[in-house]
This record gives sequence, structure tokens and C-alpha cells, in this order.
Amino acid sequence: MAEPKENLQMEKIVSLCKRRGFIFQSSEIYGGINGFWDYGPLGAELKRNVKELWWNSMTREREDVAGLEATIIMSPAIWKASGHVDTFSDPMCDCKKCKKRFRADQLCEDQNLTLSRNPEGKFVLPVGTRCTGCGSVELTEPRPFNLMFKTYVGPVESEDNVAYLRPETAQAIFAQFKNVLETSRQKVPFGIGQIGKAFRNEVTPRNYTFRSREFEQMELEFFIKPDEAIEAIHGAVATMPATGHPGEPQPDWGWQAWHRYWVEERVRFYEGIGLSRETLGFHHQTPEELAHYARACTDILFKFPFSKKDDHGNVKGDELEGIAARSDFDLSQHQRFSGKPMGVFDDELRAAWGKLSPEKQADLWKRYYDNRKNYLTKSARPGETAEQIQKQATEDANGLAKGQYIPHVIEPSAGVDRLILALIANAYSETVKTDAKGKSETVFVMKFHPRVAPIKVGVLPLLKNKPELVNKALAVRDLLRPWMNVFYDDSGSIGKRYARQDEAGTPFCVTIDFDTLGENPELLDTVTLRHRDDGRQERLKISELRDWLFTRTR
Ligand code: GLY
Repeated sequence: MAEPKENLQMEKIVSLCKRRGFIFQSSEIYGGINGFWDYGPLGAELKRNVKELWWNSMTREREDVAGLEATIIMSPAIWKASGHVDTFSDPMCDCKKCKKRFRADQLCEDQNLTLSRNPEGKFVLPVGTRCTGCGSVELTEPRPFNLMFKTYVGPVESEDNVAYLRPETAQAIFAQFKNVLETSRQKVPFGIGQIGKAFRNEVTPRNYTFRSREFEQMELEFFIKPDEAIEAIHGAVATMPATGHPGEPQPDWGWQAWHRYWVEERVRFYEGIGLSRETLGFHHQTPEELAHYARACTDILFKFPFSKKDDHGNVKGDELEGIAARSDFDLSQHQRFSGKPMGVFDDELRAAWGKLSPEKQADLWKRYYDNRKNYLTKSARPGETAEQIQKQATEDANGLAKGQYIPHVIEPSAGVDRLILALIANAYSETVKTDAKGKSETVFVMKFHPRVAPIKVGVLPLLKNKPELVNKALAVRDLLRPWMNVFYDDSGSIGKRYARQDEAGTPFCVTIDFDTLGENPELLDTVTLRHRDDGRQERLKISELRDWLFTRTR
């Protein structure tokens, strides 16, 4: 396994994941394949729950978001327009002695060094960078390595037939923006959400499933009006409190309020599945880190066992999700590359524009013109002249005055597999228990939030050899099964069965005993319900069980 041996906590987590069937190495019987992981029975359920919670909270429970499920292989023109063909690369270098291969930025970071660029923009290793394999300083200069997996569509392996496995789900959303807009009866501001596989041929996959070559994303592209349009309609863009959730969306929100809103909404989501704020961290990308078209990007981090400490001994964490304010770059790129209009018409804007003073019109026109010119200049294709760019920017600003614009976008983009690993690391707990004879053993409890727990309830007959108990327990299982994932277990002592469910992270177990059958008539058709985290037990009526469990596990 790729896991560094020095991280004991990660070793224990990896071992439990394999032993209990959360995560397996892909193709393990053939020695595995680096950077690919499979989810076993418990992992598959955990992942389904997480994706379903995301989908429900981001699409079904909102009026302003629609869903999409696009293909993994798309026209390669999409990746040209998005910039992935030309720039989606990591700097790679090799040790000349032992031939070990590295991502140059990671190699430097591991040695508290900083990878820099020379005046031509090429990466250069700082003096003293060593191979972490053999210690040699003889390393090749970093060279860009494109992370997209290439394949061919059709039987001929020619350059004309090259296609890529998508490195992100986001681009399909931009490419289908117009179709979704026209069929979903949405109006800006609105979002399109998608969950799906993405692929990146990482130079060095690492930290277990954190950075793998095949992974899943949950991405929302939330389309908003440009600030100039908001100002034209509402007189000004809303101001926000310095920190915290800005509240229910308002029509006069500009990109900053929407960005803050989505950061806070996403934090609420993580809190709602058991990741408290203390386990999370934030990284606000600096102007140097931001992509040239981005206005802001806030990363939500989780403090993984492998996360590094800063100079003050604090763990900052590693990225679970990035929330980026991407301006109108994406739709603009697809408009330019496809030749298809990606703008929208906003009659409220057109009506408002006519009522503005000439000074205000000129001010907004100029600001929009400058933004468009800036985008067009930075994204200029070879041969495009300053004159052509100015002409296009003028047309765009004239369009704004008539109620037309290309929507801007806020993108909350989360990695499913990273989140699964965070939930597993967060849930993992072990305690040493000593019995009456002084014998000690380590017991593991996976303290998943009930909403994500792979199994919601264990159903246990007190004894396996009493058909009345077994039949009643099977009836309880069948009663609950259409509504939640239930695990029936009749083998071993009740203590052992509880322990098995604790390791799986099952929040509740119900035991069917003789009182259930009416030995004590007052307790007829009731069961003992045990809580995983504190071992507390209570008696519940079977007729109330489904609703009791359902409300606590959804
Ligand atoms: N769409 C952003 C990302 O894949 O990271």
C-alpha cells in the first residue's frame, strides 16, 4: 500500500477499512494498481449515503438547482476550451540515480522548500532539493505532465480520434448550460449539480484514497448575474456582515455574498454529517494561488491524520472542497470555442437600464467593458489583435445595456472519496477494555453520524436456536428493510454481535427477546434498542420502530 509507515493512525484506519470491508486495493489479487481503490460492502453503502445526502440537499430540497448526469468522455474540444489540454499539468521530475519519480512541488514541500519559476515561466528546483528515496541531489528539471487520461474513440488510434476521460465533472455542466436553462424553467441565479467519476493521472497518488487516479466529484455550478447587472437593477450590490452566513439569498446579492453563502452552506452540510467545525479548516487562496480568471477561492479542509503541522504546531488540514468564484470565464470560453451563444437575456435588467441616469449607465458600461476586455485579453488566441478584443468588449458592454450578459459562476466542488476518508478518520475510535479476569482487549467503534452510517440498524434475536425469537426478528428486519439498510445477525453472543456492529459504525441495534414475545405481557411487541456511542438501552414498540429510526437516520 502507498501509505507511509510512520503514520500509525493512518495504518490502523487502512487496516480496519480492509478488515471490515470499507475499502480494498483495486485488483488486489494481481498485486494492486497504484492510485485506484474499491469500496467494499460497508464503503459502498457509506458512499451511496453521502452522495444521496449531497444530491438531496443541493438539488431536490432547493428550488434553484437542477441536476445533470453527463458522459465521462466528451468532445475533446471541451478540454481545449476549458484550458485542460494546454495547462492541466503537474511539474514532474526524476531522480537520475535511483529513477524515482516525483511531483516537484510535493518533493519541495516535503523538504520545506518552495518550487519557483524562472523568468520564462518554467519551474526550477531550489538548490539542495534531494531525492527522498536515495538522498541524491541529481534530479531532472521539472517538466509539465498533463494529468488527463487519453484514449481513442473508435477503432483507429490516430490524433484525430483522441479523447479524454474527464478530469472534472464541471465542464459538462457548462457545455449543457443552455439545454438545462431552456428545459428546467430556471432563471439566473440558479445552479446545476452533478455527481460523477473523474480521472487524473496523478504523478504520485498518495495518502490512501485522498489523492487517487479515479475518483468521484460532487460539483455545483451556481450561475449568477454580474455585479454590474445587480447594480443596474437594485441600485447597489448588497453589503454583508464581516463573517458568518449571510442568510437567505437576496436579489441584490453580488458574487461576494453568493460566494460566502456557498462556503457557509457547505460547512453546514459537513456539520450535518458529523464533521464539526473543529475538525475543519479553511484556506483562502492568495492572489498568487488563484487561477487568473478566479476572483476568490475558499478551500474547506479536514484535519486528516496525515495533515501536516504548521510552524506553530497547528494542523491546518487538507482540501475536502473548493468553493471558487470563477467570474464568467467558463461560459465565455465555451461561447468563444463553440461559436454558440452562452449569454442570457434579462428583461428586468433591460427595463432597469433604461431608467438609469446617463452617468450611471456610462459607469456600469465602462466597468463591464473593462472586465470583458480583461478576460478577452488574457484568453486571446494567437493572432487576435487588441482592436478585435476592444470591438468584442464593446459589443459585450452594449449587450449589457440591452439586458444581455454571460452569467458568472460560483463553484462548490467536493471530492467524494476525500469526504469518505474524512468521515472514516473522524468516526474511528478505539478503547482498551479490561474484563473481570483482568484480560484487556482493544475495541473499535466507528462513530459515524447516523445519516451516513452504512448500516442504520442491526436486528438481533437474543438466541439463534429459538424459532419464535428468530421468526419475530426476521419479521422486524422485513418491516424495516424497505426503509433503511438493516443487518440481521444471529451468530455469537449478544456482546460479540454488538461489537461487530460497533466496528461497522451501526448507530442502533434492536434485540428481540422473550419479553418481545410476551413473557412479560406489558412488553409484548417491544424490543430493546441499544445506542452505539454510550451503550444506553431503551424499550420501544415495534409499531413505532420504523418512524423512530427513520427520523434519526435521514
Ligand atoms: N472543477 C474543479 C475541480 O475539479 O477541482
